[in-house]
Amino acid sequence: MKQPKPRSRQEPRRMGNAAMVVTMLISLCVLTYIKARYCSNPFPKAAEEMEVVEIDEDYDSTRYKLDGPIGEEDFDPSRPTCYNTSKRSERCAAVGDIRVDGNHSTIYINPLSKEWKTKPYARRHDAVAMDDVREFTLLPFGGRNDTAVPPLCTRNHSVPGFLFSIGGFAGNLYHDYTDVLVPLFASTHHFGGEVQLMISDIWGKEEKDWWVDKFTPLFRQLSKYDVIDADNDQEVHCFPRIVIGPTFHRAMGIDPTRSPGGINIADFKRLLRRTFRLERAVASRTGAPRRDKPRLLIISRKSSRRFLNERAMAHAAALAKFDVRIAEPDNHTDMPNFARLVNSADVMMGVHGAGLTNMVFLPSRAVLIQVVPFGGLEWLSRVTFKDPAKDYDVNYMEYNVSLEESSLRDLYPEDHFYLKHPYDVHKKGWDAIKTTYLDKQNVRLNLTKFTKTLEQARDLLPSP
Ligand SMILES: *[C@@H]1O[C@H](CO)[C@@H](O)[C@H](O)[C@H]1NC(C)=O
Ligand SMILES: *[C@@H]1O[C@H](CO)[C@@H](O)[C@H](O)[C@H]1NC(C)=O
Ligand SMILES: *[C@@H]1O[C@H](CO)[C@@H](O)[C@H](O)[C@H]1NC(C)=O
Ligand SMILES: *[C@@H]1O[C@H](CO)[C@@H](O)[C@H](O)[C@H]1NC(C)=O
Ligand SMILES: *[C@@H]1O[C@H](CO)[C@@H](O)[C@H](O)[C@H]1NC(C)=O
Ligand SMILES: *[C@@H]1O[C@H](CO)[C@@H](O)[C@H](O)[C@H]1NC(C)=O
Ligand SMILES: *[C@@H]1O[C@H](CO)[C@@H](O)[C@H](O)[C@H]1NC(C)=O
Repeated sequence: MKQPKPRSRQEPRRMGNAAMVVTMLISLCVLTYIKARYCSNPFPKAAEEMEVVEIDEDYDSTRYKLDGPIGEEDFDPSRPTCYNTSKRSERCAAVGDIRVDGNHSTIYINPLSKEWKTKPYARRHDAVAMDDVREFTLLPFGGRNDTAVPPLCTRNHSVPGFLFSIGGFAGNLYHDYTDVLVPLFASTHHFGGEVQLMISDIWGKEEKDWWVDKFTPLFRQLSKYDVIDADNDQEVHCFPRIVIGPTFHRAMGIDPTRSPGGINIADFKRLLRRTFRLERAVASRTGAPRRDKPRLLIISRKSSRRFLNERAMAHAAALAKFDVRIAEPDNHTDMPNFARLVNSADVMMGVHGAGLTNMVFLPSRAVLIQVVPFGGLEWLSRVTFKDPAKDYDVNYMEYNVSLEESSLRDLYPEDHFYLKHPYDVHKKGWDAIKTTYLDKQNVRLNLTKFTKTLEQARDLLPSP
């Protein structure tokens, strides 16, 4: 374990001024986050405050290592080569002479009973997402009736290969975790690092090389080998075993009864803590050590579903004795630092949107407050964050935006269809819901109600 680092010489001064700085900090935050940077800069050397002291509960990839050849349970010969693990995910697994010609999206397999085609992205029920996922063909070779002539291996691997796609909706943080990262963890963790990851669709409709960089620290925890760009690599990669496509259990979640070694989201959180050096395991009513108040992190949004009175919210929260931070993550945010900021919070609050996915970094028993915009969106809020919060050991709260708090009131007359009959708008389908209630709505929270909500959140936090 690492010894605590000696604190900086500026420390006492900083602590002494803390109270005075709060108000200043809030205004600075409001000004500085505009550049899409989160607000920890106002404190000189604020990063130091998040310096890792110790990680008390390290993730151990060997803990669940099973007997027999690694990943054995993936290669059950009684199952067909490809099968559906849920309505969202099809996966294929094979043992033998396996040659991956990624540049032609073809995988030659001997033995293989017949040709298969598959898309390795866990959202098969969603045609829009799957349209942006490359299809791979599994071709039999070496059998009596097989006609395919496989290319020669140019790189031989002794470990299993694992192929997955980052096409579809990857790039949106919610989908990153729901469609890709959690399924990837559940599907590869038991290899104990002895697996070669191959990624497809890095250069699909959108360029996602930044995405691979962003999550490389996570891949390094899952595999001892550098990831391979499956589509643009001119090599023929040969494997003794291969898995194509991750398994899906539930949105952002893992069902331990169906995962190798019974792993669950607590294991995933441990992996994240280790990957990003997250210090805090559990939230507290008095905040992190050396603080005396809980920290509220407000997840800000710029384009839609904005908080129109964010500055006033920050003041109200400071009056309610919260240490306030405002942050807006974007696709290119420095992940490790952002993860540490989230982990330093005891309460995280934001309007429904991908930014709330950052709850994966919250300490256990922290509170997540989802602000649900006006428009009958409880089902959407439920499946995206309310239900998953349980798996992450996060206390979930909801803040329902009333019509009085919604900017829709300024857009439409009082008796407008959109305001009177949201559920009828829902019947018109997702595009109608999205345009009417998600893209065009901002919120101005009632500060009385907001403060009351914060008090309830504080009560949910564990006492130190
Ligand atoms: C998985 O389900 C889909 C749709 O229900 C079907 O088209 C597909 O063939 C199934 N995949 C396999 C390998 O059975
Ligand atoms: C195969 O690789 C070449 C060279 O890197 C690339 O231009 C081409 O797009 C690749 N083909 C596919 C199907 O990805
Ligand atoms: C090969 O094809 C023949 C004729 O179509 C068939 O009878 C036989 O079962 C096939 N053999 C294999 C191994 O698939
Ligand atoms: C890979 O293994 C095969 C079979 O053992 C061998 O013939 C081939 O030369 C190897 N290729 C490389 C690049 O090592
Ligand atoms: C992040 O990427 C997604 C998908 O590529 C895109 O829709 C979204 O606008 C991007 N968000 C930001 C903040 O750049
Ligand atoms: C928010 O609205 C939903 C659906 O109407 C309701 O079930 C829930 O109790 C409300 N939450 C709060 C805090 O009012
Ligand atoms: C704010 O909420 C409180 C209590 O929830 C309510 O009494 C008050 O009328 C609201 N204020 C406004 C301006 O709507």
